[in-house]
Amino acid sequence: MSILDPAFETVAEAYNRNADKYDEFIENNPNLMRMRQRVYDVVTARLTRGARILDLACGTGTDAIWLAQHGYTVHGVDISGEMLERAKQKAEGLHLQDRLSFEQLSYTDLKQSNLQSFDLTFSNFGGLNCVSDIKLVADSVRPLLKPGAHVIWALMPPFCLWEFSMLLRGRFKLATRRFAGRSTVFKEGLHYPVFYYTPAQVAKAWGADFQLESVAALSVITPPATNKDFAVKRPRAFEFLSKLDDALAPRWPFKYWGDFTIVTLKHESAR
Ligand SMILES: C[S@@+](CC[C@H](N)C(=O)[O-])C[C@H]1O[C@@H](n2cnc3c(N)ncnc32)[C@H](O)[C@@H]1O
Repeated sequence: MSILDPAFETVAEAYNRNADKYDEFIENNPNLMRMRQRVYDVVTARLTRGARILDLACGTGTDAIWLAQHGYTVHGVDISGEMLERAKQKAEGLHLQDRLSFEQLSYTDLKQSNLQSFDLTFSNFGGLNCVSDIKLVADSVRPLLKPGAHVIWALMPPFCLWEFSMLLRGRFKLATRRFAGRSTVFKEGLHYPVFYYTPAQVAKAWGADFQLESVAALSVITPPATNKDFAVKRPRAFEFLSKLDDALAPRWPFKYWGDFTIVTLKHESAR
């Protein structure tokens, strides 16, 4: 593994230390499962079975496995060896090795690999927020895509309505943490920077060959991904808010105000 950005070494170590707990946190989390399903809906609406998907920052393989189980061929990359170890074990247990492979690599460093001909570059839940310049990822991935390929990335934007509402509880630091476009995460005893991106910044990184197809929020008025308790303790309120959230998610200005934004672009192949 070659890591271009020294901060990635810290990120990799933080996730290596966190790998044992990661799946326990994301499983049985109705809030997170709902958010994942919204991202899958965007993929299945655009790609037919058999399409080749490159999952960036795939972590323990939750999405890669779901996508493989639904007929896609998936290659996942991640910089954390321990996260990938969990992904590989799960894929073997489910006998998905034919359609699923993993590689320890930074998403900024894909030129090193022999990968090519993907129909989709996919990334979910903020792995891409670890890079200081999102264009580095677009430049690294672009040569690996087929003409007409899609980009479906779910990343954290610089404004999150739910977080901002924490001002009402006097939690000023949390409410404003995204405003500078970057903040610092503390995970497993380590500090590392995260960077927040607007859909316009993502579209600009991909350049004029890629058309912005859609922007939708993930969790505008439901709690953020890290909040497991609300959905479990107040299921009826969660169900009500979820319905409202689904209605608001694709609409202006709410589509820019989620915990995450799903940004979808399509390569305009030559006519
Ligand atoms: C919050 S987890 C998300 C994992 C997975 N996508 C999911 O939805 O559960 C973030 C992941 O990003 C990975 N990551 C961070 N920087 C990376 C980089 N430069 N290249 C590849 N993976 C990276 C971390 O190792 C970690 O597994």
